[in-house]
Amino acid sequence: MNFFKRGTGICLMLTVCGMLSRAQVIIPVITEHNAMLLQADKDGDLKTIYFGRKLADQAEYNKVAGVYHSSGDYTGVLNSAYTPSGSRNLAEPAISVTHADGNRSLDLKYVSHQVDKLSANVSQLRILLRDPVYAFEVTLYYKLYYKEDVVEQWSVIAHHEKGKVVLDKYASANLYLKADSYWLTQYHGDWAREMQPEETRLTHGIKTLDSKLGTRANLFEPSMFMVALNRPAGEDEGSVLYGSLEWSGNFKIDLEVDPLDNLRVIAGINNFASPYVLTPGEDFTTPEFLYTFSDKGKGDASRKLHTWARNYKIPNGKGSRYTLLNNWEATYFDFNESKLGGLIRDTRKLGVDLFLLDDGWFGNKYPRNGDHAGLGDWQENKEKLPNGLVSLVKEAQTEGVKFGIWVEPEMVNPKSDLYAKHPGWVIKQPKRPEYYFRNQLVLDLANPAVQNFVYGIIDSLFIKNPGLAYIKWDCNAVIYNAHSNYLDKKQSQFYVDYVKGLYKVLERIRSKYPTVPMMLCSGGGGRVDYGAMKYFTEYWPSDNTDPLERIFIQWEYSYFFPAIASANHVTDWGKQPLKFRVDVAMMGRLGFDIVIGKLNPSDLLFCQNSVKTYNSLKPIVWQGDQYRLADPGKSSIASVMYVDSTKASAVVFNYLVNYRYGAESKPILLKGLDPQKQYRVTETNLYPGTKSALDVQTVYSGDFLMTVGFDPIVNANRRSVVLELKELPGK
Ligand code: GLA
Repeated sequence: MNFFKRGTGICLMLTVCGMLSRAQVIIPVITEHNAMLLQADKDGDLKTIYFGRKLADQAEYNKVAGVYHSSGDYTGVLNSAYTPSGSRNLAEPAISVTHADGNRSLDLKYVSHQVDKLSANVSQLRILLRDPVYAFEVTLYYKLYYKEDVVEQWSVIAHHEKGKVVLDKYASANLYLKADSYWLTQYHGDWAREMQPEETRLTHGIKTLDSKLGTRANLFEPSMFMVALNRPAGEDEGSVLYGSLEWSGNFKIDLEVDPLDNLRVIAGINNFASPYVLTPGEDFTTPEFLYTFSDKGKGDASRKLHTWARNYKIPNGKGSRYTLLNNWEATYFDFNESKLGGLIRDTRKLGVDLFLLDDGWFGNKYPRNGDHAGLGDWQENKEKLPNGLVSLVKEAQTEGVKFGIWVEPEMVNPKSDLYAKHPGWVIKQPKRPEYYFRNQLVLDLANPAVQNFVYGIIDSLFIKNPGLAYIKWDCNAVIYNAHSNYLDKKQSQFYVDYVKGLYKVLERIRSKYPTVPMMLCSGGGGRVDYGAMKYFTEYWPSDNTDPLERIFIQWEYSYFFPAIASANHVTDWGKQPLKFRVDVAMMGRLGFDIVIGKLNPSDLLFCQNSVKTYNSLKPIVWQGDQYRLADPGKSSIASVMYVDSTKASAVVFNYLVNYRYGAESKPILLKGLDPQKQYRVTETNLYPGTKSALDVQTVYSGDFLMTVGFDPIVNANRRSVVLELKELPGK
């Protein structure tokens, strides 16, 4: 771990010298628009002295510390960049340990820092901190994505004490913000009610966002949040921090307004029931805490995250996705080979790329004919599929469509061969009754044998069916009775080792199958986080596909995730017309989960035309810049716009979300266009036989559309309207 010592031979690394003397090192953490200033003071304490918009003249950073004269910090470490506990600190710590000798105090002093340039846009800062008394050190990592203003921050903890050290708390990051007031936007939910926003002013003391669910960790609350400074932020105004932990298990985010009225944000793995034992010489690497900051409102912040996610995090983020037909709601568990053959033919008829076979295809002794049996037994059910998946994949190939499959490999039903054969692989308390979530239990991914089993499920599906083109990976249960047979006396590592085990499996899958599209599903959106999205090309936002509900759910996810990652299916949920349902599903990766054979001729024609329309619009939706124009939570209309990077074309989705008398649209101010360009606005995705109510003859400048606006004429008779904007050449 002593790689920072000068002359250790890491010659490609650039050593950043502080801007002042060694006694007061200032470390600017800078991206295109933002700066965080860290200062190691004369005692070696590393502190955050500024967080916000970058200064025009970098030379002025060394004046910042002199501006703040507040007294009242008895400890002198309220603004610690990584707060240790058990010494001077009196606030929420970032790290807390029990040393090998049983002592519980920790102090961390600045030793050195270095910056590695990873690419033209990405650099990585490392700061080494060491305890002056114990052989214990922490390295803070900051990965900076310059143009996107995104920072990933994590820490690596290590020691060389003469025995084991227990990490009682081990956060990823510890930010410090100064403002007059702090406005937290957090989310809560449940099955089919994901991403319900709440905005509150933070008061003094600690507000904690956390999960203790183990798996499906976001079911009640995800780790995504926003903090607006001084006043609630709008789409285009206000200073706002977006944060989220890249971790698919228990998390804990403490937002503490301290006695000096500043905000301490401490984010990491939840230490609940999880003291982690570290042997000498071993490293503990925390997950990344992801954040971005904008002083230009929520829209700017989310576009930065979208660009970052497409460029750096989501596999094939700049690429394409398959449109698809899914059979879950069309058949549930009730299907056989000939029914599926019909659906494969419907896939081609509809014009989408892929047929996705959902739950119910496996299990023999305990057939998966409902959700009470079969999980764990990943062999084709011989009655439903006598010729196996191979013949279905072949049938899809004959029809010219791709074939994808649903799996839930982390889970087991007590009614399964797997449960009978490997009771030791199941998470349960040996002396207590079992307690089920959706009639199932979770397999112990802390156990390498279980990791091999889970990897093997996916690997053998691909080996047996080389034509397989897509995986939907589900995870429907939380962890009750957390206990790992494998971990024996090390139970307190369980929650952490489970997620690490999951990532090991996904890492292996991705190294063998780097390009296969995979959907991240967890009984809906129970696991949508950037820790998992490193491996998945898209996520399932919610089982709630009522398009009216989806407008709200997709709107909230869109603050954090780009549209290309949102799997949106047209189903029979809700009371909206088919056109409304399709239009809503187009704001992401379009799919269908309806019985195509039951559509009347004009509904079928509409769906077929929609797929063609979508194919022409999808590059803008997937790769364009997104603008949220009208907030469904604040008005009767929802309006969302995507503009391509050259500002030559755009698409605007508009919906009526309130059916009270007189609810209708007014001119909506468009955004992101070139004021100088001339645009023709047309209505697209019309239902067969209907005419647009819009005047498509007039040509408007970008300036006009962004200043006066455009009325899509949304009302009770036109509940959903999709506008397409095209630049007029040569004008
Ligand atoms: C979960 C998923 C659904 C579907 C079912 C199958 O609920 O969210 O999309 O795959 O499981 O059992």
